[in-house]
Parts: sequence; C-alpha cells; structure tokens
Amino acid sequence: MTTPSKTSTRQIRQDFLDFFASKGHTIVPSAPLVPGNDPTLLFTNSGMVQFKDVFLGAEKRSYVRAADVQRCLRAGGKHNDLDSVGYTARHHTFFEMLGNWSFGDYFKKDAIAWAWELLTEVWKLPKERLLVTVYHTDDEAYDLWHDMIGIPADRIVRIGDNKGAPYASDNFWQMADTGPCGPCTEIFYDHGEHIAGGPPGSPDEDGDRFIEIWNLVFMQFDRQPDGTLVPLPAPCVDTGMGLERLAAILQHVHTNYEIDLFQALIGKAAELTGTADRENKSLRVIADHIRACSFLIVDGVLPSNEGRGYVLRRIIRRALRHGWMLGVRQPFFHKMVGTLVELMGEAYPELPAARELVEKALKAEEERFAETLDSGMRIFDDVASRVKDGVIPGADAFRLYDTYGFPVDLTADIARERGLAVDMAGFDAAMEQQRETARAAGKFTSNTGLPAELVAQMAPTGFLGYDHLDAGGLQVVALLKGGRPVQAVEAGDEAVVFLDNTPFYAESGGQVGDIGVLAEQGVEFDVTDTQKFAGQFHGHLGRVAKGALKVGDHVVASVDGARRASTILNHSATHLLHAALREVLGTHVQQKGSLVAPDRLRFDFSHFQPVTAAELAEVERRVNAQIRANHEAEVHHMGMQEALDFGAMALFGEKYGENVRVLRMGDYSTELCGGTHVSRTGDIGVFKLVGESGVSAGVRRIEALTGQGALDHIADEERRLDEAAALLGGNASDVVDKIRALTDRQKKLERELESLKAKAASSATSDLAGAAVDVGGIRVLASRLEGFDAKALRDAVDRLKQQLGDSVIVLAGAEGGKAALVAGVNGAAMGKVKAGELLSHIASQIGGKGGGRPDLAQGGGEDGPALASALKGVSGWVQQRLD
Ligand code: ALA
Repeated sequence: MTTPSKTSTRQIRQDFLDFFASKGHTIVPSAPLVPGNDPTLLFTNSGMVQFKDVFLGAEKRSYVRAADVQRCLRAGGKHNDLDSVGYTARHHTFFEMLGNWSFGDYFKKDAIAWAWELLTEVWKLPKERLLVTVYHTDDEAYDLWHDMIGIPADRIVRIGDNKGAPYASDNFWQMADTGPCGPCTEIFYDHGEHIAGGPPGSPDEDGDRFIEIWNLVFMQFDRQPDGTLVPLPAPCVDTGMGLERLAAILQHVHTNYEIDLFQALIGKAAELTGTADRENKSLRVIADHIRACSFLIVDGVLPSNEGRGYVLRRIIRRALRHGWMLGVRQPFFHKMVGTLVELMGEAYPELPAARELVEKALKAEEERFAETLDSGMRIFDDVASRVKDGVIPGADAFRLYDTYGFPVDLTADIARERGLAVDMAGFDAAMEQQRETARAAGKFTSNTGLPAELVAQMAPTGFLGYDHLDAGGLQVVALLKGGRPVQAVEAGDEAVVFLDNTPFYAESGGQVGDIGVLAEQGVEFDVTDTQKFAGQFHGHLGRVAKGALKVGDHVVASVDGARRASTILNHSATHLLHAALREVLGTHVQQKGSLVAPDRLRFDFSHFQPVTAAELAEVERRVNAQIRANHEAEVHHMGMQEALDFGAMALFGEKYGENVRVLRMGDYSTELCGGTHVSRTGDIGVFKLVGESGVSAGVRRIEALTGQGALDHIADEERRLDEAAALLGGNASDVVDKIRALTDRQKKLERELESLKAKAASSATSDLAGAAVDVGGIRVLASRLEGFDAKALRDAVDRLKQQLGDSVIVLAGAEGGKAALVAGVNGAAMGKVKAGELLSHIASQIGGKGGGRPDLAQGGGEDGPALASALKGVSGWVQQRLD
C-alpha cells in the first residue's frame, strides 16, 4: 500500500504541532514513559502526565498553552491493553497521543473551536461523519457544540455516570485513582454503515463503526484518596487524540495496523520471520510490541522480575512467543529496532541515541528466554492435552512461570488461542505458597522474624540515633535466646535485646547495623549487629559479656562512634554517586541495591554496558566537586506526595510510609532515606572509586571509598608507586618513562638472546654430528642437550638431518629435572624406522609419553639415569628394526 505523504503519520504529527503553535502554544517534547517521581503511576499513560503538577498548582511553567506528541504506554497499570493487542483493530500497548493544554488560560470554548477547525479545515474530515459526546450535566459544552459549531442535536450524546459510581463515566476523565480529573467531551468518527457498531451510549457502542478520536478534558478537580473532588486552583484543558486512529482515518484504512507506520513494521517482521501472510495476527503483535519494548528501554527500564522491568519482560516474551509461533527459533526481535529507528527516530531523537542499548537488551532477553521457551511450550502442550474441563491448573501455570519463565498472562494468552482458560486463583495460591516458603526460609536464615506474642506486646522501637550515639535509661522490653523469648540472659549467652528506644541503627537501606555496648551496673552486653525484626523493632544481637540482663532492666546504650562516623560518610557519598551516575550515564540509571559499610560502599545500578574509564573519572570528579561544595545535608520530614513534589528520588518498588524522611544535599541530590548521614557534604572529605564490574545482565556495580579510607587507599597506591620507582632508581614522576625504557630494553635483550641461542645451538649440533654412529648404513645419533627446549630441539634435528643424510636422530633437552624429546628419521631410514615408535619407546623408559609422524615425533619425560640408558639403547633398537 502506498500512502500519500500528506497524510503520513510523520506529516500528521507536524500538522498538529504547527496548528497549535499558530494558536500561541509552546511545543513541548514528549516526556519519558517512566513518570518522574510519581509512584501513583506505573507508566505515562496519556499526554497530561508530565503536566500533573502544573494542574495541581504545584509547579509553574513559563507558558500557559502547550502542545506535544506524547509517547504513552498502557500495559500493566490502571490502563492495561496488553491482552487485547493482536485481537482488535485498535488496541496498542504503546501509542502516540497528540495533545494540547491550557493551564488556567483558555477553556471550553477555544478548546472546542480549535479541535473542530483542525479536524474539518486542516484535515478536511467530512463534518457529517463526526459526532460528539458530553458529560450529562455539562450544558456549557453541549451548547458550544450545538450553537457555536452547529452540530445537530441528534449527533450530540450526553453520557452520564455509566460506570457504576458518581463521576465514573466515559465522559469524566481521570489519570489515576487520585489526582487531576474533570468532565470531558469526545469527538467520534463514523467509519460508515458497512461496519458494525452503534453510536456512543448505545448498547452496541463497542463495535468498530463509531471510533473515538479526540478527548477534550476540562480539568477542574483534584480527586482525593477518599473520593472527594477538590477544585483545582484554576480550570485547565487537557486533550488527547490517538495518532494511530487518526492516521487510519486520514489514510482511508480501517484498522490502525494498516497505517504507513505499522505496515512498515509488519513488513519488517514478515521478512524476519519469513511470513508470507501479512494479515497474520502475530505480525501485528510483534509490530506493536517492538514499539513498547524499545521505548521502555530508551526510558531506563530493563527486563527484570519486578515492577516496570517485569512489565517489559512480559511484553518482550509475548512478542517472542508470537515469533516462535511463526516458526522462528533464532533471536529476531532486536533486528526490528533499526526499522523502528528509521520510522520514529526523527520524532523521538532519544530513540536513535539509545539504539545500541535497546538492541543489546532485547537480544540478551531473547537469548535468555530461548533457553526455556521451547521446553515450556512442550510442557504446555502436554498439560493442555490432559485438561478435561478446559482449564489449565494453577499449579501448571505456576510451574511454567517458575521453571520456564512464562509470565502467567503469556500462558493465558496461549491458552486462549486453544480455547482454554487458566485457573488464576490456583496460580495465585501457588505463588503465595512459594512466597510463604521463601519468607519462612528468609526467617530462618536472617532470623529477624518475631514470635507473634512479642509483636503484639511491644511498641515499635524509638530511634534516637539521628542525634545521639549514647543514651541512658533505656528499658529492656524483650529478650530472645535461641530464637525464643526469655525473661533473663546471663554471661556467655548469645541473645537479642529489644529496648523501648535506642541510638543503634538497624540495618536497612543498605546501611549496616550499628555495633557497640549495652551496659548497666555490673552488666555488659556486646552488640555485634543491629537488625530490624518484624520490620519495626531494633534487635541488638550479641553476647552477654558480664552479669545478667533481665526484661525490665534499664541500660545505657553506646554505639561504636568511630564505626558509625565512617559509615555515614559512605552513605551520603552513595547519594551523591547516584546523582552523578544519572548525570553522566543518563536517567536510565536506577539504584538496584547498595551496601553502606564503615570501610566501603557498594552501589548496584541499571546500565547495560561497562562504565568506561573516562565516565568513571567524570563521575568521581563530580562527586568530589559536590563534596567540596560543602552543601548542608538537610533532613526534611513530610508526606509522601509532598516529598515527590519536592523532587525527591524514590526507589521504584520500595515501600515508603505515609510520612517520609527526605535527605537533600544542595540542588544535587534529593532522596527519600531513613539512614544516617553527614552534616555537610564536606565531611565526606574525599571520594575514590576503586572498582567497576558487572553483577548480572543490565546491572553494574561500583565500589568506592570515602574519608580516611579513601586517603589510606591513595596513600597505599602512592607508597607502591614510590617503591616501584625506587626499584627502578627513579621517582614517582619519571616512573612511567623508566618502565617504558626498561621494557624496550628487555625486548631488545630478548631478541639478542634468541639469536645467540640459535647460533650456539647450530655450533653445538655441528659438533654433535660427529658423534653419530653407523648402523647398517644409517647414521644413528642419540644425545642429551642441556637447556634445550622443544623448539630448539626440533631446529637441531632438522639441521642434523641435512648433515647426516640417511639417519635416525633422538635428542633430549634437559631442563629442571624434565627432558623434552624429539626424534627424527630421514632418507633411506624412512620406511624402516618410525619416529613415533622410537619416541614412545624412549619416553616409556623415562616415565613419559609422546608420539608423532613417521619422520618427526616429540614428547617428554623425566631427566635422570634412565634417560642416559634409554639413549644408549637407541642404536640397538634401530639395529633390530633393520634386521
Ligand atoms: N487525558 C485525556 C485522555 O487521555 C485527554 O484521554
């Protein structure tokens, strides 16, 4: 199909932006698919996400009108279309939304007038094909359509709360369960009588005849968690039009998959999978999924087993399974990326910029899944052939998930194709059971579970350690010995002590637990670690060194201050490192784990290739610059939402309470964190990277030192440098030149030595020739040569063959108790004597082995008295062969 270029998707994007630019709108780039600091939302699911705070009045921009083309994803969150892709004409995981916005500027009148102008005058859609819906009470919108635009009443439909609750309506839009929302008016296109379906609001509205193309939302409220609607500071406009649907209309095709962009992707998928039938549903799935997967990776998500990474993994695996259905058994999916870059790289420059990363990440996931896809499909077939009631048992779905990496929605998808269902409740139960087992195992190893009666009777431990390292008058509220609650422990006992309050930090957020002493008159308890039990009780692990400790006693708690002081340097440095990595490598860098210990820090993060030496140097330089800037490390306590508005970086997948602690260092780093930190960044002193390595696919690890530890490391390196310099008779500044001169000289000497050796060997062998004896007309020579290696022996044998003519030669090169052996046979001796046989005959006498061709063989054994007699026996052995 050829598409007139004036309606290509590329042109439509441009027309849209040009139109709204001409109406005074600022053109804004698409935001990433991962919303910045918004844990209420898994993915950017519409154009307005990046403007949420502007609607709420929490953020001001330099403009009050904006337009953009936003990449959106509806998979795995509140809006989830993953399961429908491939089965319908218009569902996508990834799609592009054209939108225009007013932030307290124009409202319903202009929004409606401009939408109509663009559709009917720029794109010249026939007016009689358009109809609209309004929220049932929105008379203002109704009148604007009717009176200002002139749409007849029979093509304006009022839609009420048709989703079973107040404001739950197709014509009341909200981004998520909370946040900005408001009534909307939607514009529909009638694809014509020949297609089944009724107008919006009618029983058969879900048919394909009347298709919603543009949604104009009049944002007026901020929906609260309890469902109440609080008016926004100013009414706003938020519109969204699906680019793919609009392109289908302008290109006179019926389904989105027939538009230019999808046809090109489908063509590439057909080529890669060798599929002739372009209508094959699997090609559509692959074409849809390559967009979602590529852009997710562009925006910092990598396949993993949790959160956003797992949504990505599910989409990739679904695409791969469709490739498998088309008969593909080799990685192919990543080869779609080049075509996608050609099609969409201009509109989204971040895509070509990340092309290599996208290809690598997809290929790695293809290779990983390839290991289990085939066998998983066999298991599925086997299970499917045995089901009687049309339902795949949950336990089997779980086995496919756990052992073969089949996400359960993938199994459900395959099942659906065969007219089967999956017992989801059974799957969930199996999953829960595994979690339980893991929890129990975790309890066993980490030992931080608590008997229920203790949890019920204790209040969460009060943590004093942000301000104090020592505190007195702390009450012992519980004791554990051997994992069981006891009333008292005595000298020598290993125990866990719980206090009502404590300055001891319990390990969390990567920061190790404190050590120190709990004491009272005549009693001492050495704390060797502090762990959080049942999530909220600080357990002091250790041993009673003196006296006895009872529940109800009061103690003085003293944290090992020096150790804590070093630990906090590493913790604060970890935050600076995180920020610096995001600056230098990109915002796809996300923390994947960390260890903050007194003597070092370790930081794991998502990144697909080794960090180069230059990037590492830059990261180190930036962290040190922030240390020198000596920012105050400010601690703020606030609500979660407030923290996010404040710009705090929250780790995806971490659970945070309602009230959070935010640590901010200058404008450089703002993170949610419960750990202990420096007062000013300058306290860190110095930051030194000491290692970079890979942890798993897509995760890198950096190790670093701070403060005195970093200085000690530098001093140590210096000392070694000085030592090296001293050995070379120079100093640190000329050590490199000296080493270079030394290695040059060594190379030269090695060459000289080689040629001397060759000369010596050749004169040694000419002397040797005289030692050959005559055995039936054949010259036989067997000799031991000191210091000859195998190569020198071979050269010597070659030379001796020339000199001796018809001959049998055995040379043994002795070196360090070992003997290398080479045997050669030449001229008339050939055919009578075989070098290989001779060599094994000799080797067997000296505890060695060897072999080779009839004319040349080699091997080795022990150098000793047996060698001398073996060599002596050579002429006799040859004689026997000649007889
Ligand atoms: N935010 C509105 C939508 O996504 C425009 O439909």
